[in-house]
Order: sequence, then structure tokens, then C-alpha cells
Amino acid sequence: MRKPFLAGNWKMNTNAKGAVALASGLVKELKTVTTVDVAVCVPFVYLQTVAASLSSSNIALGAQDVYFQPNGAFTGEISCEMLKDVCCTYVIIGHSERRHVIGETDELINKKVSAAISGGLLPIFCVGELLEERESGKTQQVVADQVRKGLAGINAEKIQAVTIAYEPVWAIGTGRTATAQQAQEVHEMIRGLLAKMYSPKIADAIRIQYGGSAKPSNTAELMKNPDVDGLLIGGASLKVDDFAAMVKTIA
Ligand code: 13P
Repeated sequence: MRKPFLAGNWKMNTNAKGAVALASGLVKELKTVTTVDVAVCVPFVYLQTVAASLSSSNIALGAQDVYFQPNGAFTGEISCEMLKDVCCTYVIIGHSERRHVIGETDELINKKVSAAISGGLLPIFCVGELLEERESGKTQQVVADQVRKGLAGINAEKIQAVTIAYEPVWAIGTGRTATAQQAQEVHEMIRGLLAKMYSPKIADAIRIQYGGSAKPSNTAELMKNPDVDGLLIGGASLKVDDFAAMVKTIA
């Protein structure tokens, strides 16, 4: 059985005071939850502060990106070692905003996934189609291609560190959530692909999150799907009440 996994992606939001308030609020609200894995993926500059707020809680800390090189002349970048140093467990890689706003390629994302696993982090590897790709019937092809390229060279042992997040780009921050059926169709395809790339047993153990305008009111519906194992939550993760309500719905 896959344990549900909810992660908040705070994106480029909050400030030092707000980050502590949000993290401390979640710690208080989610004290007794043990049946769901919970993480918050925080802006780099607040990781250390939030780590202190989360210490001795059951909420894990994650970053929103990482660079694949271990150290050196890479101005502005952050290494796996640095993230481990500030108590990160997870790292989001290949988020649609990094693919489509910042311009990251599948090849770069693949290097990051590989480096994160080798560096002892658990990647949340994101895939998802653009609206025009969905409308022209290319969703399955686009997502399958992203999965294959992003996981190239990741062997059967290493893949077990990975969570996949399916985030249709047209559903992110738009209030337009994928229907439960649209989410299930893609999740099922991804699991089938993982079964071919690795084995049915491995595919069965990998968690696949849905992301894109997930909120308290659609959590139960999305999570009813057999292949939806959790959520990657943007906007609703910035409010203690909303995020806590989503975790509790699943717990
Ligand atoms: P929203 O929940 O704000 O749509 O964002 C989803 C997302 O991008 C999470 O990574």
C-alpha cells in the first residue's frame, strides 16, 4: 500500500515571519497525523528558519530546486549537500514554472534528479502538459516523454527515492482543476510506463501526486482515484487552515 503524500509548494511566497507562522501553525494542526506523509517545500532563504520550526514534528522539509553539481563556480545555485545541511529531505525538480518560465530542459532536469538521489535527497519530479498539448490530444505522449527523459539512467534501486507529480500546466494557479478522471487517466499511464521501464512491483510502490488548483473542496474527489497517491499543493498550502484540512481529509 502506498502511503499518501501531501506536499506544499510555497513557491516564491512568504517572508521570514510568515514562513515561521505557517510552519508553526501546521505543526500545531497536524500533531496527531501519522497516516499521511506531509512536507513543505520552502524558498531557499527560509529553509533553515523553517527547519527549526519543524524540528521534532512529523512534517518534512523540502526545497523547490537544486543544482546538479556538488560545488564550485555556479553563481546563484544551491547544491544537494547544502540542502541536506539545512535538514531538507525532499526537493522539487522540473516544476512547470522552472520548465516554462525559467526554461529548464528535460536533460537538465534529468541531471538534477540523478544528483538529488545520489546526494541523499528525495526528488519530487514534476511532469505535465500545456493547454495546447492537451487540446491537440498530445497529453499522454508529452507526459510519457517527460517521464522517460527525466528518469533516463535512473536505475531500479534509485527510482524508489522518487515521487512523481503530475501537474497539468493549465491547472496550475488557474482555479481550473483537472477532473478526477483526467488525473486518473494520466496517473494510470505513468504507472504503466514505470512498470515497463522498471517492473510492475516497482511501479506499484512509486507515489504519484496530482498538482494543479488542488484545494480542500476537491481533495477527497481527487484522492479517490486508485493511482492518485497524494497532492502537490501551491496556493492552498499558504494557508494553515486549508493545507491542514486537506491533510486531515486524507488522514
Ligand atoms: P496551485 O495549487 O496553486 O495550482 O499550484 C500547483 C503547483 O504548481 C504545485 O507545485
